[in-house]
Amino acid sequence: MALDPYFDPAPGGDIAFTVEAPKLKFGIGALREVGADAKALGMTRIALYTDPRVAKLEAVDTVVKAIRAAGLNVEVFDRVEVEPTDRSFKASAAFAREGGFDGYISVGGGSAMDTAKASNLYASYPADFLAYVNAPVGEARRVPGPLRPHIACPTTFGTASECTGIAIFDMLAMGAKTGIAHGALRPSLGVLDPSALMTLPAPVVAANGFDVFSHAIESLTARPYSHRMAPETPDKRPLLQGSNPYSDLACTEAIRLVGENIERAVKEPNDITAREPLMFAGMLAGIGFGNAGCHVPHAMSYAVAGLVEDYRPEGWPADHAIVPHGMSVILNAPAVFRSVASACPERHLRAAAAFGADVRNVPADRAGELLAAHVIDLMRRTDVPNGLSAVGYTEADIDALTDGAFAQQRLLVNSPRPISRDDLRGFFKDAMRYW
Ligand SMILES: [Fe+2]
Repeated sequence: MALDPYFDPAPGGDIAFTVEAPKLKFGIGALREVGADAKALGMTRIALYTDPRVAKLEAVDTVVKAIRAAGLNVEVFDRVEVEPTDRSFKASAAFAREGGFDGYISVGGGSAMDTAKASNLYASYPADFLAYVNAPVGEARRVPGPLRPHIACPTTFGTASECTGIAIFDMLAMGAKTGIAHGALRPSLGVLDPSALMTLPAPVVAANGFDVFSHAIESLTARPYSHRMAPETPDKRPLLQGSNPYSDLACTEAIRLVGENIERAVKEPNDITAREPLMFAGMLAGIGFGNAGCHVPHAMSYAVAGLVEDYRPEGWPADHAIVPHGMSVILNAPAVFRSVASACPERHLRAAAAFGADVRNVPADRAGELLAAHVIDLMRRTDVPNGLSAVGYTEADIDALTDGAFAQQRLLVNSPRPISRDDLRGFFKDAMRYW
């Protein structure tokens, strides 16, 4: 494509990219319009999904009042589990089936939104639980038709669940994370109201902000869509296609907004003018990675999150060890950028420039180091742990971490260059400590 030589055709590579654009509403106070939005979508009897902590926050109260003011009925299901499981999905789907609802509203993080998606699916088209679950765990059966309308109202940012047709859960019997993925699960409308972020603790804002940053930069530096093998037939073109000119636009702006605002959003919790651009950046990056896909830092993050033994960070419930998602991603990111930048240095410089770095006269072979240095500087200024050693890992864990990350081939093939086990070993070693 003449727009950017990065997308020049490769032999056998794909010839087109698609754009899946979610329907979204963004603005301070937008939650007060949810009743009118529900009415416009034809809802009369609504199931509202939330978790016990969010249920006590102002956002749920605002939404319930807006629904009632529009003359509609609502029943609240406040038992969403924060890491949903097949058991909690089944319980919430039973609530949906028995209630005879004609519309769904979710208020909360990814867990609440994903639980509402699954409940809507099983109430609309009842089937064995495993029928719609991704293979190889489930049968990956196609959803037979459209679902009931669903309005997703995030009270956090970064997951972008309001933009996607994906519902993630833990399959308890297998101890594995899997999901249900189909375009029909995409919410009819996402309502992003930055005032809902005002209760988020500073470390959560930092972790989510860096998750957004990494979504954006991984999408920008992903293998170009034109270098992925063309699908046998057009309907087999994947949702996550590799970097493309459309996701570039959204991701470049998301990087700029995170770079400009994350420190202030972490240090000044009452300043909505810092949190508002982060929520918008999360939305943009969600649209970007929803079409392009992430790569190595996310592949590594699943191993980092899965093998944690006793790290309990401030800002999260202390009842179990956790490396929060955004943290488990960004701890790997500088090590990856340093190494894979040689595959597309101009894209790493573009990310660094969007982040505020002076890239004039920087040679191509310094692009990865420059971007990594800027990310590390921002990690330090926002009190992010100093590498994997600060969340309890040592060099003795590198083999297990490498095995976990190497299993994430779906993400690794989206890297700008092929990634071997030895590469991953090197990245984990480099990510142990940054300053
Ligand atoms: Fe992420």
